[in-house]
Amino acid sequence: NGLLGKVWDDEMSSSMLGNRLRKVVQNYQAMNKYGVEVSGPGGVSSRPKLSGPELLCQLKDKVEVTTLTPDLQPFSSLPWATQLPSKPLSVELGPYKSCAVVSSAGSLRYSGLGKEIDSHDAVLRFNAAPTAGYEKDVGSKTTIRLINSQVMASDEHRFLSSSLYSSGALVAWDPAPFSSDLTQWYNRTDYPIFVQYQRYRRLHPLQPFYILHPRFEWQVWQRIQDNMAEPIQRNPPSSGFLGTVLMMSLCEVVHVYEFLPSRRKTELCHYYQRFYDAACTLGAYHPLLYEKNLVKRMNQGSDRDIFTRGRVTLPGFLKLNC
Ligand code: C5P
Repeated sequence: NGLLGKVWDDEMSSSMLGNRLRKVVQNYQAMNKYGVEVSGPGGVSSRPKLSGPELLCQLKDKVEVTTLTPDLQPFSSLPWATQLPSKPLSVELGPYKSCAVVSSAGSLRYSGLGKEIDSHDAVLRFNAAPTAGYEKDVGSKTTIRLINSQVMASDEHRFLSSSLYSSGALVAWDPAPFSSDLTQWYNRTDYPIFVQYQRYRRLHPLQPFYILHPRFEWQVWQRIQDNMAEPIQRNPPSSGFLGTVLMMSLCEVVHVYEFLPSRRKTELCHYYQRFYDAACTLGAYHPLLYEKNLVKRMNQGSDRDIFTRGRVTLPGFLKLNC
């Protein structure tokens, strides 16, 4: 094992970051944009560190993967509510035997993982991550694409017209108030998710397209905070962790690629862009550092799998005995 390089340490904390990034993270930790109403950790000693299996069961028990349906207020009284899927995502998608979650990390570049990724029954990708031109490293199958409201709204990503978004089912989310009150959120979204949703549905009426209930993002956030010894950023979890939990609810086994960096670890932010920033891997706005600590603790695969393939193995909730 001494020959293996170091893989992610599950006790990472903001104090271990470089100067610049530590300040950025501390800045976000001081903000509370979404009105989070719980206090931070009650003290390290009062909180036993849960084992991986205990963490998995907590996630399964305390997080509901729900999506918006036309019967929910305030949508039920709006004319466009009929554009929302009538049944929740969990009823229409899966169950799948094996699933791959493809982080968009720069360390996927030159990984040669494409074939392995495509061999799964379902593949989840994020935001504007392309497959065309990168098949060797990331594969070409897309079963679900998780997109944030910022990508939906920015001109740069041409969300309404680009063919990048046309394969598989789409699942969108937007950072909502901590209360998860749908009316409060509807009147104050971070980006115009509902306007863009309606436009996309009119152009592509046959493609399955869900919107995550904001309760989901904050329940996941609560699991992270409750299992960390320090206060985490009071912002929603990253797409990467939301997508991982989403797939755990639909699959028997989930392989997550390059969320915990392999030996290819790089400051290259995305495999598809020439942009370098360590914050992409370590987090700034999102509590990404702490998400990675949890994933490391829940991993049922080997450190070698992380080191060589950037691969983590998580059991789906379907087959988990709690
Ligand atoms: O940047 P974007 O959110 O589209 O990337 C998808 C997810 O992949 C992130 O939310 C994050 O969880 C993960 N990621 C990472 N390291 C990177 C880039 C992305 O862990 N360098």
